[in-house]
Amino acid sequence: MLQQLFRTKSLDRILADATEPQHQLKRALGGFDVLMLGIGAIIGAGIFATIGTAVAGDLVRPGAGPAIVVSFVFTAVACAFCGLCYAEFASLVPISGSAYTYSYATLGEIVAWIIGWDLIIEYAVGNVAVAIAWAAYFHQLCAGLGWHIPAWLAVDYRSAAQAADIVVRSAGSADPAVLLAHEAWTTHPVIAGIPIIFNFLAVGIVALITWLLIVGVKESARVNNVMVGIKLLILCFFIYAGSKFVKPENWSPFMPNGLSGIWVGASLIFFAYIGFDAISTAAEECKRPERDLPIGIIGSLIICTVMYIAVALVLTGMVPWRQLGVADPLAAAFAYVHADFSAGVVALGAVVSMSAVLLVFQYGQPRIFFSMSRDGLLPEYFAKVHPKYRTPHVTTLWTGVAVAVTAAIANINEIVELTNIGTLFAFVLVCVGVIVLRYKEPDRVRTFKTPWVPVIPLLGIISCLYLMAGLPWITWMRFGIWLVVGLVVYFVFGWRKSKLARLQ
Ligand code: ALA
Repeated sequence: MLQQLFRTKSLDRILADATEPQHQLKRALGGFDVLMLGIGAIIGAGIFATIGTAVAGDLVRPGAGPAIVVSFVFTAVACAFCGLCYAEFASLVPISGSAYTYSYATLGEIVAWIIGWDLIIEYAVGNVAVAIAWAAYFHQLCAGLGWHIPAWLAVDYRSAAQAADIVVRSAGSADPAVLLAHEAWTTHPVIAGIPIIFNFLAVGIVALITWLLIVGVKESARVNNVMVGIKLLILCFFIYAGSKFVKPENWSPFMPNGLSGIWVGASLIFFAYIGFDAISTAAEECKRPERDLPIGIIGSLIICTVMYIAVALVLTGMVPWRQLGVADPLAAAFAYVHADFSAGVVALGAVVSMSAVLLVFQYGQPRIFFSMSRDGLLPEYFAKVHPKYRTPHVTTLWTGVAVAVTAAIANINEIVELTNIGTLFAFVLVCVGVIVLRYKEPDRVRTFKTPWVPVIPLLGIISCLYLMAGLPWITWMRFGIWLVVGLVVYFVFGWRKSKLARLQ
């Protein structure tokens, strides 16, 4: 039994399966598209929203303060170790399943299943968080332009119910997201005795992106390139315009909550880096995956790290760190120095940036399902490719429905922490996989090699575990429950239906 659980799928078989005509995706992406997809996935809710909590902390844990810069550097280094491992795998197994496929080749079917299941947390659950943050910024942007969208169509029921209490405790001076939720609570309609409060805006953006992804991947990449250009411009604008308001005294004390604040900050701000790995799911649609993927992964990581560090320095220099614990810290920083036009520009940038993240994650998730069902671990139905558009339309549609429904009712903070733990776990397994495959198949041609194996993967594993340890125990519990549910699904379905099992 143990042997069956850890059966591995040979690299040759993996590559052969992907070339079956009924399962072929269209190779439409070049190196530049992939780099842009990476930046599209990385810069989003993390830098526009999560950074606020990472700097100021939340009700129970202290944040990093101005030392968030150190958290950024630490997290970037951890991601670089993992990015190098991802790049080696992506060039070796250029298949759309990403970490799922890599572990199938190295660590065995059960581990592959766990990671495939875990990646749902990264992509689908992560997208829920981004869709919610998108809705909050979009609502605010419309309000700034004089268009009022009812608050009860822009928040979830639970946040609205909690907001009343927070507003009373903070004597009305709460963060704008809380005030919005409070407005929803006091103004919502009731139909047939049911209170109507749900995040319609989040549902709307997910539906739009899902449609775009079904219509075609090249079209989606084009839209993404435009959005990435805009988001880079907006961040440059923030750095340039904000630097004029920097007061160096805001940087002191630099580490108000010591090393533990930096640690908590890093475990949260990790969300801002998630995404460089998502582009590995584009492997079957790249013209030259063995070259395009390493360029995309490492390149996007470098560009985003430089931007983030500059943004963090300017942000913490503009506003005293304690005041940054709001849902829209970058726009709030301009509001703080009474630069309202700049605040509006940044809010627009946030909306565009998060749309791009939604696009890439919504692109990644169905491709993981697609690979899993091609292997028989999920029903064959999910591996269908659209006859005209050559996109995995069935999985794309179902992912869209699941993300939209969850985003309509979920609370963002819990979702961000869950996304981080799930993604860090996937990174750990990828690093382990690189070491295992070097010993199992040392002679296989690797167009990109992670340097200093096993040192770099080991450092990747240690730094990810360290970041995971910085997350609250409730997040660990939720993650544990998710994995147990996944194992049940595996033993009920995948274990028997696995194509590999039937071959043996
Ligand atoms: N890195 C992505 C974001 O910050 C998930 O939105």
